[in-house]
Amino acid sequence: MLKLLFFGDVVGEAGTEVFARKAPVLRREYGADLIIVNGENSARGNGITRESADALFSAGADLITTGNHCFRRRCDSLFSDPRILRPANYPEGVPGTGICTVDCGRFSLTVINLMGTAFMEPLDNPFSVIDRLLETVSMRNILVDFHAEATAEKRAMGWYLAGRVSAVIGTHTHVQTADEEILRGHTGYLTDAGMTGPSESVLGVRIEDAVTKQRFHTPVHFTEATGSCIINAAVLEIDSISGKCTKIDRVFIKDITKSR
Ligand SMILES: [Fe+2]
Ligand SMILES: [Fe+2]
Repeated sequence: MLKLLFFGDVVGEAGTEVFARKAPVLRREYGADLIIVNGENSARGNGITRESADALFSAGADLITTGNHCFRRRCDSLFSDPRILRPANYPEGVPGTGICTVDCGRFSLTVINLMGTAFMEPLDNPFSVIDRLLETVSMRNILVDFHAEATAEKRAMGWYLAGRVSAVIGTHTHVQTADEEILRGHTGYLTDAGMTGPSESVLGVRIEDAVTKQRFHTPVHFTEATGSCIINAAVLEIDSISGKCTKIDRVFIKDITKSR
């Protein structure tokens, strides 16, 4: 039985600090063989940098997925690290890859990062891209991080891949959904894993900035919120022989104060 912890978007300095402190504890608590984390917002001021990725790896992340903010800091060389994925449906010529197989001793797991196109960048059709990618994978243990805005697109992808992959976990909205289930008795599904970051915020951003943006629709420089954090994750058990997800639970921890 392969047990894995999947963390939704880790947001900014506060989220990365909390992840670094708590991920090793949660790995022990849940007996996780593997930790996957979406790190697209892990750098201070958004995006991902070598420094923020290394902080996640040092805390025990085995693989980092990303999304629409992956190239924000122009750290293209980051994506030559096979442990850092960017969505697979970026056009050819973009640095990096959207697929990786992680070997965690007794088990291996193929992880695919994809991005939705509803209300997002017009990347290649994620349904066509995943079909092409799955043709190249012989492994049964497969997890897809579907980084997308629209709930309908995410649930459609979940059902599209039901029985074909072990799990489809959504990211990007920074708000955890409560619809975890196992589709067709095979595929662990959650529309959005949520975020690890400051709770008194709008998706990790300082409340005043987010309200100004929504109220006036003028350009606003977003600053990361401070204060206590939440940790949002999902814990999954996958039968490594059949590739079936046998259990999926959400993790939602509140009121984690900063250590310094
Ligand atoms: Fe994000
Ligand atoms: Fe995103």
